[in-house]
Amino acid sequence: MPFKTIIEPFKIKSVEPIYMSTEKERGAFLKKAFYNPFQLRSEQVIIDFLTDSGTSAMSARQWAGIMMGDESYAGSESWHKMEKAIQELTGFKNVLPTHQGRAAERILYSHLGGKGKVFFSNTHFDTTRANIEFSGAEAIDIPIPESKDPELIHPFKGNMDTTLLEVLIKKYDPKNVGAVILTVTNNSGGGQPVSMANTKMISSICKKYGVTFIIDCCRIAENSYFVQHRESGYENTSYRDIAHEMFSLADGAVMSAKKDALVNMGGFFAVKDSGLAEACRSLLIITEGFSTYGGLSGRDMEAIAIGLEEVFDPDYLKYRIRSTEYLGEKLHKMGVPIMLPVGGHAVYINSRALYPHIPLDEYPGQALVCELYLKGGIRCAEVGSVMFGKYDEKHKLIPAPMDLVRLAIPRRVYTQSHIEYVIEVFEKILKDRSKIKGYSITYEPEFLRHFTAHFEPLKSKTPVQK
Ligand code: F0G
Repeated sequence: MPFKTIIEPFKIKSVEPIYMSTEKERGAFLKKAFYNPFQLRSEQVIIDFLTDSGTSAMSARQWAGIMMGDESYAGSESWHKMEKAIQELTGFKNVLPTHQGRAAERILYSHLGGKGKVFFSNTHFDTTRANIEFSGAEAIDIPIPESKDPELIHPFKGNMDTTLLEVLIKKYDPKNVGAVILTVTNNSGGGQPVSMANTKMISSICKKYGVTFIIDCCRIAENSYFVQHRESGYENTSYRDIAHEMFSLADGAVMSAKKDALVNMGGFFAVKDSGLAEACRSLLIITEGFSTYGGLSGRDMEAIAIGLEEVFDPDYLKYRIRSTEYLGEKLHKMGVPIMLPVGGHAVYINSRALYPHIPLDEYPGQALVCELYLKGGIRCAEVGSVMFGKYDEKHKLIPAPMDLVRLAIPRRVYTQSHIEYVIEVFEKILKDRSKIKGYSITYEPEFLRHFTAHFEPLKSKTPVQK
């Protein structure tokens, strides 16, 4: 019988010390940061769950690769390694390197987009949407209806609504469709997976209407894990072969290598059509760098080539998905309201359900983010009315559809005892839930206010519920 405990399938060679602050110190740090954890210094944080992007620990092999990086301006050996790794994984011949995911999006979607064009996706990530809209085109999210219910269990809650896709392609006219973008896993909602069956259906609709089909593949290995374990017919297919099959259904892929390529910086896009690649290459050279490095150093490309191989290791993926699920399962059992089922890279907390006594215009998500920091030095992001809220003409808040808090888990960084600590902090959060008060905003910029806004804890305005 296999052992119950899934251990981290790695040993630690190099460590970064964590400063173990006291609650009193954290109170002062948070006040100085205007109650916005984005304004904290990283050394003031014990567990950093702000993002899983660019926060991975590299392997000894990747660090060795860093020393092998070929920094030649043109035709670097490291470029050839990265290009080959991507070609072999995706099957796409034309690879264009960029410094991170959004640079690849800007180049590809400004070419495919523009005024009058429309894009459909299971959910456009913020930067994807922003790049599409910046080009003058429209971005429409069409996830399956099940994805909107935070508690509903569905094996592939990241799927796209394919019936609606076909209706919309016809409605907008296929010639106006910039591309259909499938984000795997779907970041919003915590990395919900997409099935192969859904991908096949999207592919056949796109082929039928002659529409370009792109996969945003920054968490493709995590998605492959879910396909192997949840979709019948894939039990005996390797994670890498599952990814390869998914790519074979599309015309191209965009990747932020900061996720499943296990590196701290990097990105690329790869396409089947040489004409499309050629058309994008000039913009790549003007804005990112020559086509054999994009915005990357040789050493970054070397590390990406190795990371893309390591991420498909079955022991790694089992540990990765199970450790996220373990945290979610424990929180759920304890009574913390979370988005279900748990996805690949993050656990989302429903702060409205946790703090029902905090009015939405007093930001329950911000209250939880601050509480997690104060009680346990845990830093995470509010994904709710601070991030997406708008004001009406009387400056009254129009809240976001949900007030979530994202615990995004860096890859290969924290051990099970870190996770046990986080679970313990949540026990305290639950115990004190009725005492917690909301926050008011004392300063906010016009755009992307969550990064730099200032907050103040409210004192007696909110009635305390017992
Ligand atoms: N696509 C998806 C699905 C993403 O999650 C991200 C980044 C990007 C594209 C953009 O990539 O950051 O390299 O420019 N997500 C990060 C996050 C920022 O925290 O979820 P990038």
